[in-house]
Amino acid sequence: MKSIVIYFTQSGTTKAAAEKIAAKTDSDIVEMTTSDVYPDNFDDLVAKAKEQIDGNERPVINEDFDFSDYKTIYLGFPIWYQQPPMIIHSFFEKFDLTDKTVIPFITSGSSSFSVCEPYMNNMKTNAKLENGFRSNSDLEIEEGLAL
Ligand SMILES: Cc1cc2nc3c(=O)[nH]c(=O)nc-3n(C[C@H](O)[C@H](O)[C@H](O)COP(=O)(O)O)c2cc1C
Repeated sequence: MKSIVIYFTQSGTTKAAAEKIAAKTDSDIVEMTTSDVYPDNFDDLVAKAKEQIDGNERPVINEDFDFSDYKTIYLGFPIWYQQPPMIIHSFFEKFDLTDKTVIPFITSGSSSFSVCEPYMNNMKTNAKLENGFRSNSDLEIEEGLAL
């Protein structure tokens, strides 16, 4: 069965990582977007992200992914406030991931994957959630995929 890379990005870093991971794993690749409007201005974006965390919000996902052809999902996102963006909660709550393996990958300014582990472990999902990895550099991607 094929694998697929699903990624959420605001400024393109996670997109670049996702494309490399898709190429290396021979996966399909699709961007996950939301109808929520995220400001381009960094300070406004930071404020918006904080507002979503404080409100325990679930941003609406535009896409209706059909994962029936896939066994493994590589799920990419930036670290926001030492945790996954709230849309990642939306992802796990929207899609039934029974019998799927999800391998998360992050990009960040400096945080390692471990900062978001407690949040990932609390996601409401039937998926088999594997340990993830940081993917800012080619080396991190190579090491992460080798796990
Ligand atoms: C709202 C917000 C919060 C962030 N919080 C963190 C953080 O806690 N730790 C960190 O290392 N980087 C943090 N960053 C930096 C991003 O994780 C990093 O720039 C990421 O690669 C951006 O991915 P993107 O280009 O795919 O959107 C934050 C960025 C934003 C916009």
